[in-house]
Amino acid sequence: MPTPDPTRVIIFDTTLRDGEQSPGCSMTPPEKLRLAKALADLGVDVIEAGFPAASQGDWESVQTIAREVHGPIICGLARCNRDDIDKAYSAIKDAPRHRIHVFLATSAIHREHKLNMAKNEILKAAVEGVRYAKSLCADVEFSPEDASRTELEFLAEVVSAVIEAGATTVNCPDTVGYTTPIEYAELFGYLKQHVKGIENVVLSVHCHDDLGMAVANSLSAVHAGARQVECTINGIGERAGNCSLEEVAMALKTREGFYGLHTGIQTTRLYPTSRLLSTITGMMVPRNKAIVGENAFAHESGIHQHGMLKHHSTYEIMRPQDVGLSRTNLVLGKHSGRHALRDRIKDLGYELSEADLNRVFTDFKALADKKKELFDGDIEALVLRAGEHAEGPWALEALWTSATSGAIASAVVRLAHKDGRVVEQGATGDGPVDSAFKAIESVTGTAVKLRSYEVRSVTEGEDAQGEAIVNVLYNERSYRGAALHTNIIEASAHAFLEAINQILSSRSLARPAHAQLSADSNSVQANP
Ligand code: KIV
Ligand code: ZN
Repeated sequence: MPTPDPTRVIIFDTTLRDGEQSPGCSMTPPEKLRLAKALADLGVDVIEAGFPAASQGDWESVQTIAREVHGPIICGLARCNRDDIDKAYSAIKDAPRHRIHVFLATSAIHREHKLNMAKNEILKAAVEGVRYAKSLCADVEFSPEDASRTELEFLAEVVSAVIEAGATTVNCPDTVGYTTPIEYAELFGYLKQHVKGIENVVLSVHCHDDLGMAVANSLSAVHAGARQVECTINGIGERAGNCSLEEVAMALKTREGFYGLHTGIQTTRLYPTSRLLSTITGMMVPRNKAIVGENAFAHESGIHQHGMLKHHSTYEIMRPQDVGLSRTNLVLGKHSGRHALRDRIKDLGYELSEADLNRVFTDFKALADKKKELFDGDIEALVLRAGEHAEGPWALEALWTSATSGAIASAVVRLAHKDGRVVEQGATGDGPVDSAFKAIESVTGTAVKLRSYEVRSVTEGEDAQGEAIVNVLYNERSYRGAALHTNIIEASAHAFLEAINQILSSRSLARPAHAQLSADSNSVQANP
């Protein structure tokens, strides 16, 4: 069904499916739930919560989100076969509003090299998949994967057939980020001219960013009549990523006079949601990223600063407050009370439960003892870490390091185990961080491969807190740890231990490796 308001653009968020599928962005089930709740607060219309057939873990996460997240339509992805569709339906059915999203590739390249199927077989499988999904669920979306490289005539034939079979939304993905704004608008124009019944469905876009055109292509399709945009927070996703939600939402808002369209996004939630995702995944937003990058509203040059002082509209087309960036220069310190902290947290756009506020208040007091002044960045970092304490068997009680230029560095760690053991262990290495990591590996009996290690300061100033993010590989799975500390070596050791704790905790609950939508995984069953 088309949207009752023709000027309303549906925002379909796929951060938890297409975004989570990309390397370095995997999330644990509690992290997915936390993000899904934030997406609901942000005002997205549809949450694609996952690909339930990929693994039992994915199925469970989708079901939890369907049961616990209120507001948006909860959607599950399925290939065109009964088993996938059943799994998607059983995972989403408890959400008051739910959708099955069925996909099948249609381009010649995919037909020949991936699926080994002829056009008539694709057509038949697509129709049968949609018909079966429709027998379970009224709201069915169909995606002809690689639509932008599909012969237009064949694409129109498939789209007509799936509409006839009951699809209510038809999404035409630019799966490999190949199209251009003009070409993509022409594709939608062609479908509108050649597909019977197209006025009865919502047309959707789904763009990847391989040539850096995902947002431009999505907006061009919207201009040509599409009314659903599939996108992700911070633009995370396969390869170069997906269309960025915050950029599309702010483009439609800022240029409303041009597009004449609007979304249901609460734009003041954009920045907090972006920060939440980067804290959860450890994938930092580039400083110059539009809308949510650290420099997005910074004015450095003298001429710009002069203009801004005269009137902000000289160099600013959006206000930082519009996207939820309401930083101040006000500082809190060790004499600030719980009320002042709660108010500042609220001003920064975060809502905390009483238990989380207590935890943040304790951390705040501890930090204020070390650091005289606490800035907004410090408080935000404490808030974002509030729900993040991974339970694990080991805790770091003490750390000693020594490093002199020209000499081998060393570290000693004292770790306490939940079972009561306390172990002290030393190691040498190439610098104090390497030594501390080796000592931790030795005590915990867990050797890992370090994939990435980053440290950044969360505010300005010599006594700023450092945030360390560590990504390690163990048995071909990656694990992440993150920690904050005014001493970056301690932050690094805590982050590394958090990753090891996750390995130790998940050993007994081993879950199959995340199934990717790889070439051979898109098969359709002979008898869907
Ligand atoms: O990029 C793509 O084609 C997809 C589909 C599954 C919609 O992610
Ligand atoms: Zn995609």
